[in-house]
Amino acid sequence: MSLSPAFLDELRMRTSLSTLIGRTVKVTKAGREYKACCPFHNEKTPSFTINDEKGFYHCFGCGAHGDAIRWMTDQRGLPFMEAVKELAATAGMDVPAPDPHMAKRAEKAKGLHDVMVAAQALFEEQLGGIEGAEARDYLKRRGISEATRRAFGFGYSADSNGKLKGALTEFGEPMLIEAGLLIDPDASEGEKARKRESYDRFRGRLMLPIRDIRGRVIAFGGRILGQGEPKYLNSPDTPLFDKGRTLYNIDRASPASRQSGRVIVVEGYMDVIALAQAGFGEAVAPLGTALTEHQIQRLWKMVDVPILCFDGDAAGQKAAIRAATRALPLLRPGMSLAFATLPAGQDPDDLIRAEGPVAMEKVLSVAEPLVERLWAHEQNAVPLDTPEQRAALKQRLGAITDAIAHPDVRAHYVQIFRQRYDALFFARQASGGGPRHQRGGGARQGWQRDRRGNWKPPLPPVGSEARAIGVSGMEQRLLRAVLASLLRHPEQIMLHREMLSALHIGDSALAGLLRAMVTASFTQETVETEGLLTILGQGEVYNMAKGMLRADTFTFTPNRMTADSGRVSRDLEEAIRVMAQGPELETALAEATRRAKEDLNEETFAEQQRVHRMKMDHDRRLAELAQSEDIV
Ligand code: UTP
Ligand code: MN
Repeated sequence: MSLSPAFLDELRMRTSLSTLIGRTVKVTKAGREYKACCPFHNEKTPSFTINDEKGFYHCFGCGAHGDAIRWMTDQRGLPFMEAVKELAATAGMDVPAPDPHMAKRAEKAKGLHDVMVAAQALFEEQLGGIEGAEARDYLKRRGISEATRRAFGFGYSADSNGKLKGALTEFGEPMLIEAGLLIDPDASEGEKARKRESYDRFRGRLMLPIRDIRGRVIAFGGRILGQGEPKYLNSPDTPLFDKGRTLYNIDRASPASRQSGRVIVVEGYMDVIALAQAGFGEAVAPLGTALTEHQIQRLWKMVDVPILCFDGDAAGQKAAIRAATRALPLLRPGMSLAFATLPAGQDPDDLIRAEGPVAMEKVLSVAEPLVERLWAHEQNAVPLDTPEQRAALKQRLGAITDAIAHPDVRAHYVQIFRQRYDALFFARQASGGGPRHQRGGGARQGWQRDRRGNWKPPLPPVGSEARAIGVSGMEQRLLRAVLASLLRHPEQIMLHREMLSALHIGDSALAGLLRAMVTASFTQETVETEGLLTILGQGEVYNMAKGMLRADTFTFTPNRMTADSGRVSRDLEEAIRVMAQGPELETALAEATRRAKEDLNEETFAEQQRVHRMKMDHDRRLAELAQSEDIV
């Protein structure tokens, strides 16, 4: 039985060789490759290298060499089909049923490659000949240099119905049709009904060869020289050419991307070419369609975060969101997309022509991360004035995070979106009085406008795993009570300093007050409230502290002047602990819920229930502490 080369290619592509080999031997990252001590011979220093991008391993010591399938047969000792089945299962692919025609097809593909070589030579020859004058003129007008013309293999197809058909007779008509070079007007009629003659597909067009990663011509794009439809005529899908699995210029961009550490995805052939001529060799383009899943995976073989460069107009932005949405289920740790936005109505070719490579570099340098693009899009999509519209935004954000398959990536998206959503609608109202929190005015204080005028909240601080506390509700009530209590019992600050310093407080005014109090606790000689206030100075922090001491709304035990200091200390400790636990418990519950969802069994269910109970207990205690009625 034989499997199609396309299937095997896909299988290799979906298999991370370093992960596969890493299951058997210890591998370490070394630049773009991985190293290991060779499992095929005995050695102490690693000479075995794994290249994920190419999907090959190679040992410089013993010469062992192969791909994922070879690894399974040679190292694991599996028969070929077993190796394929196991890899396919891991990659989530179905092994196709045996196909007796496959071998014949492989044979045919070989013939088709020869056809494409001959066609390419013919087109190049015609560009240089008499009939190519107009096309040469066109290239000149577009500022395409001789070197670029050669590098990209420009050609010309004569404006004739039978030029190619006549020149490549040796391959036979059926093969020229199969290669997509001739059009068979009766293709759907079957052999017998064939009445009309086949003729050249490409007539009077500037020809651009489309090459696979190995540099073999697998298809053509033909641009019309003047006005007319279609502007670009492309080869149909053939046994060699699958539009959705090919990226224009992949053969040259792949090595270039290794130099620059960057891949740029643009819309058109001419954009790729203009970029290359301007020094950006690492550009590719899909072939007149939206980016496919397969193309995104291919890009990730080159770099972790390819830059998608789109027109700033509505169509371009729609395409950007489409690509973003398509990438969500595929996201993995480290692997993402970035989005560079061109001035509306300009493609990279136009921009470089008008303003030069520096302008292009500038556009690329401010590419937005995927998370920003999605957030900006959702937030700007519709008005967010009514409660219903705001709730709908939450739903759309939820749909985005639901589409992310990788649990860790998803968890971070969930967290970032939640923080931003809360900051957008809840944070200010909940944090109450104080001059920083006045209602009205710009609804987005502290935010920044990006270069397109969209409002952007700051990203949450890097490394803040759990959410901040005290931003709203019961938690903030309790936090204020604790702070007021510490002001009344300054000697307590020292006793709880460690726990206090570890609190990650979301309200910056309250955080500032606590910080000042903790700092003061190191220097103050007296433990009296008045002494503490003196150290706090006369600024905002002082005013807030004064306000808190005046407030009589706090019902927290330690705020009673009558409480004995032992009780005050115990109550404070509990209050601080309860506040700190909130975010931790939320994270733990989310994690336990995720585990239970992923693999529901007695153990994961019980654990989820346990954490859930803890969270419920916590919430109840928090509410009690924050609003106990027994004290004033
Ligand atoms: P554009 O119409 O934006 O063309 O199509 P362009 O790249 O700016 O071309 P020039 O600068 O006018 O020469 C973008 C891409 O969409 C596909 C091609 O891949 C093209 O590069 N396309 C466009 C087609 O396949 N067929 C068409 O008729 C038009
Ligand atoms: Mn263009």
